[in-house]
Amino acid sequence: MKKLLFINACIRGDRSRTLRLCKKYISAFLSWHTDYEWTELDLNEMSLIPQTREVLDRRDAFIEAGDFSDPMFDLAKQFMDADHIVIGAPYWDLEFPSLLKIYFERVSVSELTYDFLGDHVDAYTKAERAVYITTAGGYTIGKNYGFEYAQGLFSFLFGINRMDLIMAEGLDIEGADIEGLLKDAMNRAEEIAKE
Ligand SMILES: Cc1cc2nc3c(=O)[nH]c(=O)nc-3n(C[C@H](O)[C@H](O)[C@H](O)COP(=O)(O)O)c2cc1C
Repeated sequence: MKKLLFINACIRGDRSRTLRLCKKYISAFLSWHTDYEWTELDLNEMSLIPQTREVLDRRDAFIEAGDFSDPMFDLAKQFMDADHIVIGAPYWDLEFPSLLKIYFERVSVSELTYDFLGDHVDAYTKAERAVYITTAGGYTIGKNYGFEYAQGLFSFLFGINRMDLIMAEGLDIEGADIEGLLKDAMNRAEEIAKE
């Protein structure tokens, strides 16, 4: 079976509108792509340690030794093995929740997930496609830095050149038709899931 990896940064859990969109996308994707199974990483439930000096020193020592057997590399290996990656992250402070940045730091491991070779990067990840799902209280108007960052990172380091965006905006604006906005985004999710 192929693998869909759902990176869930929807911190508000069951109250999260972003999570509703993610669930819609994943169920539509699995109904069209029956050769897939899926795994969810609920970042809120994981004890992700920020990349402190101690963590970095330990990591660098393993990289130097070419030894990636420590559990600190498990997330990176899982990421490398995924065929399709779904990121669910609300729009926070023009970007995304910080737990997602820690996750990205965990999976961006030189000499494991990619090699920077001066004039180009060799990526060792399997996925060719990812989807970024978000909702925003206001409008992102040219400042969707979370999506742009994820898109840039995936393309540059991992050779994942396609990242679709599924988004509902303006949800917290007074009088917003929240269900209508989510429905539009869900329709888009269903379209992308078919591909
Ligand atoms: C910590 C925090 C930061 C936020 N920052 C922004 C922001 O910069 N711009 C904006 O339009 N909405 C912002 N919002 C509102 C959320 O984007 C909006 O409520 C979103 O739908 C939350 O997603 P969720 O329902 O999946 O949790 C913020 C909300 C929180 C809790």
